[in-house]
Amino acid sequence: MTKIRMLFEEQEIAARVDGLASEIVQKIGVDFTVIGILKGAFVFMADLVRALDRAGAAPRIELMRLSSYGRGMTTSGEVKLIGNTPDDFEGKPVLLVDDIVDTGLSLSYGQELLAGRNAQKVWTCALLDKPSRRKVDMKADFVGFEIDDVFVVGYGIDYAERFRHLPYIGLVEQSD
Ligand code: IMP
Ligand code: MG
Repeated sequence: MTKIRMLFEEQEIAARVDGLASEIVQKIGVDFTVIGILKGAFVFMADLVRALDRAGAAPRIELMRLSSYGRGMTTSGEVKLIGNTPDDFEGKPVLLVDDIVDTGLSLSYGQELLAGRNAQKVWTCALLDKPSRRKVDMKADFVGFEIDDVFVVGYGIDYAERFRHLPYIGLVEQSD
């Protein structure tokens, strides 16, 4: 039996995503490219770009696939790019979006990959941040919620490819 304990409800997430969009527009402006990191960021990104529209921005959308986890609850420590990275951002800002900053390896790897591709600046955004888990010096520019060292699922985030579909974020208490 799998039990999930509620951590952030849908309405709480939606309100924070709107807040993040306003912060982003204030700092970056309205003309930039959002790059979502697959798979984990797909739900967050879909909500974020619509919140950005409400906040007055008109971002272009790109996706990039990184992989670091196997089937377990801990990162393999090795981040891999699957497929290509988008390039040439016409001297405009880029906002790199992930679901969680944990060790910081994925976002810093993504940021490095995008360096030198004619972005004015690569900003970083994550819905969740676990600052106590950091292995590299990585501070996302925009963070939805800080959380403790707990394993979460839902809202795009998985445990062994399950639970991404949940509309809320919860903790896995027991799993089979
Ligand atoms: P980092 O490279 O260690 O910062 O890890 C970032 C990635 O690890 C995120 O994009 C998630 O896909 C995954 N991750 C980190 N913490 C969790 C968690 O609590 N549940 C599920 N996936 C996680
Ligand atoms: Mg991920």
